[in-house]
Amino acid sequence: MTGNDICASEVSLRMSSAASAPADPAPRGARRILAAQAARYGSPEELRVVEGSLAAPAANEVTIETRAIGVNGFDAKMLSGVFGRDESALPLVPGLELAGVITAVGDRIAADGSYKIGDEVVSATSSGAYATSVNRDTTGLLRKPGDLTFEQAAGLVVVGGTAAQLVAAAAPTEGQTILIHGASGAVGRLAAQLAIAEGARVIGTASAKHHERLRELGVEPVAYGEGLEQRVRDVTPDGVAAALDTVGNDEAIDVSLAIVGDPQRVFTIAGFSRLDTGIVPLDGRPDQPAAEVRVASRPGLLRALATGELSFPIAATFPFEQAAEALTLVASGRAGGKVVLVVG
Ligand SMILES: NC(=O)c1ccc[n+]([C@@H]2O[C@H](COP(=O)([O-])OP(=O)(O)OC[C@H]3O[C@@H](n4cnc5c(N)ncnc54)[C@H](OP(=O)(O)O)[C@@H]3O)[C@@H](O)[C@H]2O)c1
Repeated sequence: MTGNDICASEVSLRMSSAASAPADPAPRGARRILAAQAARYGSPEELRVVEGSLAAPAANEVTIETRAIGVNGFDAKMLSGVFGRDESALPLVPGLELAGVITAVGDRIAADGSYKIGDEVVSATSSGAYATSVNRDTTGLLRKPGDLTFEQAAGLVVVGGTAAQLVAAAAPTEGQTILIHGASGAVGRLAAQLAIAEGARVIGTASAKHHERLRELGVEPVAYGEGLEQRVRDVTPDGVAAALDTVGNDEAIDVSLAIVGDPQRVFTIAGFSRLDTGIVPLDGRPDQPAAEVRVASRPGLLRALATGELSFPIAATFPFEQAAEALTLVASGRAGGKVVLVVG
């Protein structure tokens, strides 16, 4: 995943932190903030909460006081250096998505009235969300439905957009069977619900402790691990039309290829080391199947969550100060759903 799907607005956190620079007096109009940042590439334990300052918003920006921040596997991967180790990007403030309240608006926004102080919004960008306030361009900013909590809204858009793209790329027709690897995870659970809404039958891999929860959603769960291919074949004698992989390990890819047959019907958001097999990667690049769905689906996903059409419980919340612990849990692949940082 590149993050260029996340939306066009640039991260505009401008801070001087205790970790990266001597405490400068905050510039005029700046506000004191906290950010969880890493001074070098490595594991989530590199994250430290530091104080900094955030400048007043530019003309086309708003300042958002953060209430909740979605924690994503992408944050840990970016921090690990697997996407590259650009030393000039250090210190690194990870985080793709947040929900909060507008506390200041730039001159242009004040003039056009598109957003005002007090509006509750959701923002997704390419990094920088692990902070108690951020400046954001209003392009791609979403209004938080009033009946959603900040935690729900902050956790939904990145995984929801990814799930929507997976399902749109596979385009299941009524009655077709879809195999989802990692159906109990944040992306998998949403993809399963979206595929079922399209009329698909969904077989989902998950550990046994999540099977009952998946059945309640209409998913037919199977345990992953030794013998997975046979277990899937046993319940799909008529075959599987497509596999949606959110796990990315050899088992998920090999079982998908064996059962689906056509690699162009195996879509992965995590198995990038196996692209030599011809499977289809989805990581936010614009030339990929249903690429536009990632961002375009977000308002509808927020509405569907607010009306109860989508089920998306938060698996765990952590106080902002425990960003490192939260990201460690997500990186383990054992969170069992969405993890969110709560501010304040
Ligand atoms: N390419 C993209 O655009 C994109 C976007 C979002 C996320 N991602 C990536 O997609 C992956 C999933 O994200 P997520 O937010 O859904 O993660 P998550 O909520 O942590 O879910 C992880 C899932 O993996 C399952 N799992 C763990 N070990 C497994 C194994 N050995 N075999 C099969 N399943 C296993 C877990 O199942 P149990 O808990 O039931 O064991 C769980 O369902 C992450 O790697 C993330 O970085 C990519």
